[in-house]
Amino acid sequence: MVQTATEWSQETIARCVSCVVRSRRAVRAFKAEPLRRELVEEILEDAAAAPSGANIQPWKVYVVSGAVKDALATALVAASRAGTAPAPAHFPEPLPDVFRARLHDFGARYFASLGIERSDAAARTRQTERNYSFFGAPVGLIFSIDRRLKPHSWIDLGLFAQSVMIAAKARGIDTCPQVAFAPFHDEIASHLQMPPEEITAFGMSMGYGDFEAPVNQASMPREGRHDFARLLGFSP
Ligand SMILES: Cc1cc2nc3c(=O)[nH]c(=O)nc-3n(C[C@H](O)[C@H](O)[C@H](O)COP(=O)(O)O)c2cc1C
Repeated sequence: MVQTATEWSQETIARCVSCVVRSRRAVRAFKAEPLRRELVEEILEDAAAAPSGANIQPWKVYVVSGAVKDALATALVAASRAGTAPAPAHFPEPLPDVFRARLHDFGARYFASLGIERSDAAARTRQTERNYSFFGAPVGLIFSIDRRLKPHSWIDLGLFAQSVMIAAKARGIDTCPQVAFAPFHDEIASHLQMPPEEITAFGMSMGYGDFEAPVNQASMPREGRHDFARLLGFSP
């Protein structure tokens, strides 16, 4: 059995992990400070420990920085303005009420943190566009997967992405996962020379968060444990 070789107590480990998991948040404004390549490599090596069904490890990730990231961002902003990408359809229509309510709450909190009125469509579009320049982060990631795989394997990709975010946060590095990239697969694939079997699943911004920025001050509440979990068969 593989065991964690550490001189830390189980309690200390639990506290550290809990602290890192709970302090991760979607960060949408970053300091100009660059991210060292070795740190990015360490994060990816940690994330490779993520589980996957039958250990098929279906994840692929393109990590862009410097001029490569800037060129990709420029192409995506241009594509967004040209309106050539398919309209985002991340959620089903109709969205069940319980999720629609949370979606509205998210939008209200997000745009309020920026002082953007609900009626100000132009300002909302400008903010949405910031997705494509990785919110000014020094590093951007594009996660892809073999399009022949079933939804089951997309679970693996999600677990891998969460592992990236936690490994980053443990090093004081912030992230924002972004499905906003998905509709731009054609532009991304040609820019990154993806093989034809791959499909863009989502992207991610990565860097040192600017916590003075108002957008990073929006709080995103969670439902309580009692609302989503049923514990059965435990003694009282
Ligand atoms: C799969 C996925 C896709 C997301 N896509 C976007 C996105 O395109 N743009 C964005 O700004 N945030 C995006 N987010 C971030 C969520 O809005 C954020 O995680 C959620 O509001 C909870 O906030 P928190 O991560 O700060 O706790 C995404 C998150 C996930 C998990």
